[in-house]
Amino acid sequence: MVAKMKALIFHVIGVILLCGVLPSHAAVRRYKFELRNTSYTRLCANKTMLTINGQFPGPTIYARKGDLVIVDVYNLADHNITIHWHGVKQPRYPWSDGPEYITQCPITPGTNFTQRIVLSDEEGTLWWHAHSEWSRATVLGALVILPQKRDDYPFAKPHAEVPIIIGDWWKSDVQQVMEEFLRTGGDPNVSDAYVINGQPGDQYPCSGQDTFKVTVEYGKTYLFRMVNAVMNNIMFFKIANHNITVVGSDASYTKPINSDYITISPGQTIDFLLEANQNPSQYYMAARAYASAGNFDNTTTTGIIEYAGNYTPPSSLILPTFPQFNDTQASIRFTNQLRSLANERYPVDVPLNITDTLLFAISINTRTCPIDNQCGGPNGDRLLASVNNITLVLPKVSILQAYYKRISEIYEADFPDNPPFPYNYTQNNVPGLLWTPENGTDVNVLEYNSTVELVFQGTNIAGGVDHPMHLHGYSFYVVGSGLGNFNRSSDPLNYNLVDPPLMETIAVPRNGWTAIRFRADNPGVWFLHCHFERHVSWGMGMTFIVKNGKGRNERMLPPPPDMPKC
Ligand code: C2O
Ligand code: CU
Repeated sequence: MVAKMKALIFHVIGVILLCGVLPSHAAVRRYKFELRNTSYTRLCANKTMLTINGQFPGPTIYARKGDLVIVDVYNLADHNITIHWHGVKQPRYPWSDGPEYITQCPITPGTNFTQRIVLSDEEGTLWWHAHSEWSRATVLGALVILPQKRDDYPFAKPHAEVPIIIGDWWKSDVQQVMEEFLRTGGDPNVSDAYVINGQPGDQYPCSGQDTFKVTVEYGKTYLFRMVNAVMNNIMFFKIANHNITVVGSDASYTKPINSDYITISPGQTIDFLLEANQNPSQYYMAARAYASAGNFDNTTTTGIIEYAGNYTPPSSLILPTFPQFNDTQASIRFTNQLRSLANERYPVDVPLNITDTLLFAISINTRTCPIDNQCGGPNGDRLLASVNNITLVLPKVSILQAYYKRISEIYEADFPDNPPFPYNYTQNNVPGLLWTPENGTDVNVLEYNSTVELVFQGTNIAGGVDHPMHLHGYSFYVVGSGLGNFNRSSDPLNYNLVDPPLMETIAVPRNGWTAIRFRADNPGVWFLHCHFERHVSWGMGMTFIVKNGKGRNERMLPPPPDMPKC
């Protein structure tokens, strides 16, 4: 009873605290998430894994633009957890953002935390996932943000909507996969399958029966809301015999792109229209990896598009032909087509006068093994990763808490704006002297309302590879990208400042660069990291602190009373 009263009071206080940021039309929606150990069978084998409400993928959250979603997260399992609302900006409210030891301490077994997902200008598809070690492999789901009631889509209303989450599956416990590769210093074991909405499809043993199917009616158009939740791979996706029309990415609309394939990064979402305009029959939708380097899971997951009506189903379906697994050009070509609508109703607001110019070298590194040549990386060394030569080490209490309560010695506010030494980032055999990483918990502090240009520069240190970089608390405009080293005098001349796509995850091409711009108008503590799970585990991440502004609505809101404690 007392506990219930307490919860009610916290809830009321929380809603009151948030009223300042909510536009008046917002509805409040409430969900209950229970983290449980759940038994699942795939690929002829059984395992126990963490899920929300026993579901894989987890429950889809539905909301409208500008709503407040309250999720009561109960940890009924035996493992720490945090939940992140990927792509939600959480204006002035980093407290519910979720990354473990960046904005909060984990929700420990037997405890609960009420999270507030403050929607603002996002419209389209986002998702939520665990942000604690590797548990996002099984703890994830879609977040569908519909237009406000009186609004419609910037395209003809689809006949139906279909969430599609591409994920992966290990026969073993992902926690063990993680512990093992961190212990050996080598690459993690690759997954055993990819899945579409939790199902591997009929290219894998014991999986045909449960293949994910969508029934379509000839002549109708369907909106697919696709999320790449895969842990370590950018994916190619195709539907046999059909072209698709991309209309959005990362909860922002795009100019329509007609294409026969999609490239999608882990973390990214793509909304596309499918017109059921082929002979009534059954067709595969399929996904497989784009992998520019290293070991990867080379299997193909499938689902089925099944036309309604009377026809003899084909005895076997034909897989669509994919680009080569290492076809960097095909990967880039798709992503480079993304453009904002940039019209009166959906204008762009690209910062033009830049106050902060940053260059972040993102590298896979190696370090001498503590026991000579006994590690699993190249030459018996240990693999790790860095941003501007700093390998992220998570602190023991969250950076947000340390910042808010002015606890010293948790982090250092000196994350460099540039690599400590400029060098030829993409050459063969970069001298170790130029890139030896140091462990650190360093943050880069931005003034409120500063206008930031950040160039991610891939490096070829322990072999170049793509990096899908994700920023919390913001969307950013992707104004340019290219292969090789970024050239500060010539490359900006080719920036797209007219209709660049508004994203929160962008794949930096292998041995290339990507330039993004954003206005630092969301005060708080925001994580920036590679969305390849192995890379962030190796330390490819950093944190921005965006300071409060002077105005009343330019400051971080206070924490909720039930923040988990370390
Ligand atoms: Cu999708 Cu920091 O995460
Ligand atoms: Cu990476």
